[in-house]
This record gives sequence, C-alpha cells and structure tokens, in this order.
Amino acid sequence: MIYGAMLAGGSGTRVKSSKIPKQFIEIGGKPIIIYTLENMLKVKRFDYIYIAVHKDYEDYMNEQVKKNIPESEKVRVILGGKERMDTINNVTTAITNDNGLHDDDVIVIHDAVRPFVTEKILNDSIDCAAEYGACVCGLPCADTILHSKGGEYVEDIPARSELYSGQAPDSFRLAHFIQMQDNLTEEQKKVITGTSQICTMNNQPIHLIEGDAINFKITTDSDLLIVRTLLGGK
Ligand code: CTP
Repeated sequence: MIYGAMLAGGSGTRVKSSKIPKQFIEIGGKPIIIYTLENMLKVKRFDYIYIAVHKDYEDYMNEQVKKNIPESEKVRVILGGKERMDTINNVTTAITNDNGLHDDDVIVIHDAVRPFVTEKILNDSIDCAAEYGACVCGLPCADTILHSKGGEYVEDIPARSELYSGQAPDSFRLAHFIQMQDNLTEEQKKVITGTSQICTMNNQPIHLIEGDAINFKITTDSDLLIVRTLLGGK
C-alpha cells in the first residue's frame, strides 16, 4: 500500500497575522490544507491519506474533507501530537492499527503547509523510497549559505554546489521507517527539524530527489502573501 501522511498538527506561531494555524486559513473559500490535499490526490497511487490535526480542528477537518473532496473515502483524519515527531508517530501507529504492516508499504510524509507540491515530486518520491528505502526531497541552494554560531560573525561558508534545502515530502518503506523511529532516544527526537534526520541519526543512507521552488513551505506572513497571490489574490 502507499500511504500519504499529511502533518497538520502544528500551531503556526511564525505567521503573526493569523489567530488560527496557517494550514486552516481560508483562501478562495477553502482552507490551505485542502489545496495541499487536492494536489496529493492527483496521484492516484495513494491508497489512503492520513491527516493529523490538533483535536480542536478534528471536526472542522472532517467537514472540509466531506465538502471539498470527492474521494473522501481515501482520507482519514486523526489526532496529531505535541511535537512534529509525535504527530508522525501517531500517523504510523494509526496506519499499522488500521491496516497491519506489509513489506512493500511506502509512507509519503508531507507538510500540510506546502500546498503546491507537484505530481512529479510525489511520484519520484514514492519510486525512490520503494527502491532505496528512504528518500528526501532537496532543492539545490540558490543562495550562498553562511555558517555562524552566534549570528555575529561568519565562521564558514560551505561550498554551495554541495548544499540543498530540505523540503517535504520525505518517503520511506514503512517497516524500515518504523524501525528507525523506534531506535531514536527522547533527546534525538527533540532536536529533529526534518524527517530525513531520522536516517542520519540511525546511520542509514537516504536518497536525494530534486525538489522544486514552488513546493515552498508557508512559514511566515511573507509566504502567506505569496500563496494568496498565486491563488489569484483571493
Ligand atoms: N506539525 C505537526 N505537528 C506538530 C508540529 C508541526 O503536524 N506538533 C506540522 C505543521 O502543521 C506543518 C509541518 O509540521 O504542516 C511543518 O512544521 P512548521 O512549519 O514548523 O509548522 P508549525 O509548527 O505549525 O509552525 P511554527 O513553528 O511557526 O509554530
């Protein structure tokens, strides 16, 4: 089976203009998360897409899926966790409780706040995870990256040709992923900023596929402005 895991349990504190989490901000009559879900569902290979939300948004999310998504039988709304890693853990637990665990299962872990993910990225990510076990999506860095520990002086400027910005989705063979997840210490879980770090922390290889600038993450108000513009200034 091929599972989508849509992470939507965060509170979006860096979008200062909104009182509600960024994934639920409505543009053109529907929340941003629905645009993300519609793009994921363009890939017919997904058997199920699990969406993990805070409990305050569980009913709202179910209503939005019913209202906007014709293939709603493929979508399961579950509860997220305190940290992003807890949310991922809730998804893998729900998947295995509902469906068991099979050798060829693949999980595609995506952020609800990357609404413009492309079919190419999703398909490449699924294929790559099925072949290599673990796959991260990276965008070659356009800017020169400055390394500074204190933010006052630059200590190092790594070679740009070797640097990528990590994007979602991250995809894995599910059994391999669960095993790596189980190996993590509580300390390691706290410092993870991207799902693919689970591989580096386990000394496991992770294959890279090329991302796309349009697959950006809504983090701040500026990103929200870009999304509104791309969706027709709604
Ligand atoms: N996420 C989640 N569960 C959490 C924290 C984050 O599912 N406990 C999800 C977010 O909803 C988002 C994705 O992980 O889709 C990427 O995280 P980020 O951009 O950091 O989102 P937030 O944590 O919501 O934002 P902020 O750090 O500004 O509060």
